[in-house]
Amino acid sequence: MNSRQVRIQFGSKEGLSLFKLEPLTPSTSLSHFMCSIAEYNEYLYQDALRSQDDHIARTWLLCERATGAIAAYMSLIMDAIKLSFTEKELHNLKYPFKTIPSMKIAKLAVDCGFSERYKGIGSFMIETAASKALACNEDYCAARFLTVDADLEHDEGVLAFYEKNGFIRNAELFNKNRKTISMRKDIYN
Ligand SMILES: CC(C)(COP(=O)(O)OP(=O)(O)OC[C@H]1O[C@@H](n2cnc3c(N)ncnc32)[C@H](O)[C@@H]1OP(=O)(O)O)[C@@H](O)C(=O)NCCC(=O)NCCS
Repeated sequence: MNSRQVRIQFGSKEGLSLFKLEPLTPSTSLSHFMCSIAEYNEYLYQDALRSQDDHIARTWLLCERATGAIAAYMSLIMDAIKLSFTEKELHNLKYPFKTIPSMKIAKLAVDCGFSERYKGIGSFMIETAASKALACNEDYCAARFLTVDADLEHDEGVLAFYEKNGFIRNAELFNKNRKTISMRKDIYN
């Protein structure tokens, strides 16, 4: 059986026994991480720690328990999105203001080697981000949506990936000439 057939699911016994989530620290070894987009590798190697030190982006790593290898990373930031009247109605948000608090996945990438071996790692990271947003709501600060700027410049397929994970396009920022598409996922629906 091809191990790529193994689908890792958030909260599953298998997911938890194979992987753990760790924060990026100055002592984290990044050397083996390699996703399909050079820019995302460079960000992790060169900018992620600096951004974290400057409180610009908080980076989380999904590490294989057996080897410590990084299977995926994501950087999370606070966000606020503008929704139209119709969009607010869709989420039953009957408020006079347009801007709704959110948490944004500023970067997300899966290592190519792990991507060959497992399905579902990217989706696992999105569920992990959603669980962090829910925890944030419980303890500190409100965030209704997870948001992302889907990076179509590098791969048009990411739109399908985010849609499969429950994201929809934001009307306010939609423009067919953009290299990214602003999307949101309601973490309470
Ligand atoms: C995009 C990325 C995070 C997806 O991770 P992944 O682990 O392959 O995703 P999953 O296995 O959870 O995929 C979930 C579903 O989305 C689909 N999908 C994933 N990536 C896709 C793509 N690039 N194009 C089309 N569909 C895609 C999968 O086929 C799967 O569909 P299924 O449930 O019907 O089988 C990963 O390919 C990656 O790191 N790409 C490079 C960096 C990048 O583009 N990051 C996003 C920037 S906005």
